Amino acid sequence: MAKKDRNGKETTTERGGLSAQPRLHQSAPEIQAYGTVSHMLPLDLEEPVRLEMTEQLNLLLADTMTLRDLYKKSHWQVAGPTFYQLHLLFDKHYGEQSEIVDTIAERIQLLGGVSIAMAADVAETTRIQRPPRGREEVPVQISRLLDAHQIIVSHCRELAERADKLGDAGTNDLVVSDVLRANELQIWFLSEHLVDVPLVHAEQPRLRTAG
Ligand SMILES: [Fe+2]
Repeated sequence: MAKKDRNGKETTTERGGLSAQPRLHQSAPEIQAYGTVSHMLPLDLEEPVRLEMTEQLNLLLADTMTLRDLYKKSHWQVAGPTFYQLHLLFDKHYGEQSEIVDTIAERIQLLGGVSIAMAADVAETTRIQRPPRGREEVPVQISRLLDAHQIIVSHCRELAERADKLGDAGTNDLVVSDVLRANELQIWFLSEHLVDVPLVHAEQPRLRTAG
């Protein structure tokens, strides 16, 4: 519509429905509901297969997002004599988990599904136990992270086998190569911190007293 200034002169630059004004606060119904698969890309994968795979991948995604955030929480809240190395390690693992999150989410979209995305939805879906908001000591932080990893690797093994059975080689490869192996490596790095070895003095074997 033409706009006029105080003198009644047309000032608008709007023409043919085009305008330089941003159209704010828009809304409309969703274009695809969560839990459905849409378009059939020429992937040669039937809808029931894509439906099952996207459902399973969303579970894996929710757990991976939770583990990713648990790493950032641990990175910020860590304390003690190993602060520096753990602060760095936790952030390295956080970065790697962030990449895994993106890989899983885009696989779900590629299969025609809808990736879970927001924290509230992730919290309702994940199988990983919710940690307290406050700080915890290092062995507890690491144990919590290891428990989360364990849930993920065990799901990876089941999911990889199922994907293979259904002929979804792409999901099988992603789960094994990108998720399972990365998690196994992180489990090793974490677990070594829970081995109780002396820091300064080597422990001498106790001498047996005669008699
Ligand atoms: Fe940081």
